[in-house]
Amino acid sequence: MQATARAQPNIALIKYWGKRDTIRNLPAVGSISITLESLYTETAVAFDDSLSTDELFINGAAAQEALPRISRCLDSVGGERRARARITSETNFPVAAGLASSASGFAAVVVAADAALGLGASVDELATLAGQASGSAARSLYGGFVELANLDDGIEVATIREPDSWPLRVVVAITSDARKPVGSGEAMERSRESSPFYGRWIEDQAVDLDTARSAIASRDFSALAEVAEHNCLKMHLVMWASRPPAMYWNAATLACMNTVRDLRASGHAVFFTIDAGPQVKAVCLPDDEAAVREALVNTNGVTDVRVSGLGAGARRIEV
Ligand code: DP6
Repeated sequence: MQATARAQPNIALIKYWGKRDTIRNLPAVGSISITLESLYTETAVAFDDSLSTDELFINGAAAQEALPRISRCLDSVGGERRARARITSETNFPVAAGLASSASGFAAVVVAADAALGLGASVDELATLAGQASGSAARSLYGGFVELANLDDGIEVATIREPDSWPLRVVVAITSDARKPVGSGEAMERSRESSPFYGRWIEDQAVDLDTARSAIASRDFSALAEVAEHNCLKMHLVMWASRPPAMYWNAATLACMNTVRDLRASGHAVFFTIDAGPQVKAVCLPDDEAAVREALVNTNGVTDVRVSGLGAGARRIEV
């Protein structure tokens, strides 16, 4: 009745922002991401009939606040009459600061819970369940370059390019480890209800997805760089124009964006992307990694830098 799973965060290149169904947590748009390799969450789920409530520990501390979402996620895997569980989760990166910890967290939970209960659900089914808990988590079930497509009545997630066949590198510049001011789910709803740019964001997503899919298929780095930065900035402007606005950047976030643009102007193959947090993810070709890392380490306000390649989807591990 217990199992452990490991999952890595994923970074969206074409972003998910907005929900078309808040009950089933279905995204309003498709998205394309890369699954990371060296940042990870390891989660053990132990179902135990003697427990009267679920218990959650994240990085050694009881995490009561996050428990209701995890409990609902376990219900979706094992049914509401399941035994209560002890969930122990460890990450090797800061939680809830825009490094997609919910994506790796929920991906690991569904895989571990399914294995602990011996249910044998398919990866597709687990992706759908992870996505109900957190939209971006559906993508962490798969490795490499991943597309989440919207179907009439759900989602379909798949690897569109294996990580080894285009081994991009990601340099994450950490500019703050504070918890974010407003969660992405709430900020998305705010955007849908009040941002004058929301409708246009939804309308244009198909074009950005097509551009990115072709760039990935032909390994055209500059085409991918152009559309990924455009899509990221567009998403942030939708948030900024919401009422009240959702603003996640700090001064160091902007400084990192400038660093990346300067690097590109001097011939390096690199682009930035930013999620619902102040960290900047610089995506580059392997030959440019050292220069990108060095430049970001030396950017004002950067407190830490993490480097990762592209990795595999969530899976059960033996401990
Ligand atoms: C900016 O997956 O955290 O990272 O479904 O409400 O849990 P919920 O949202 P979440 O949102 C991620 C938004 C994003 C872009 C992305 O990862 O595509």
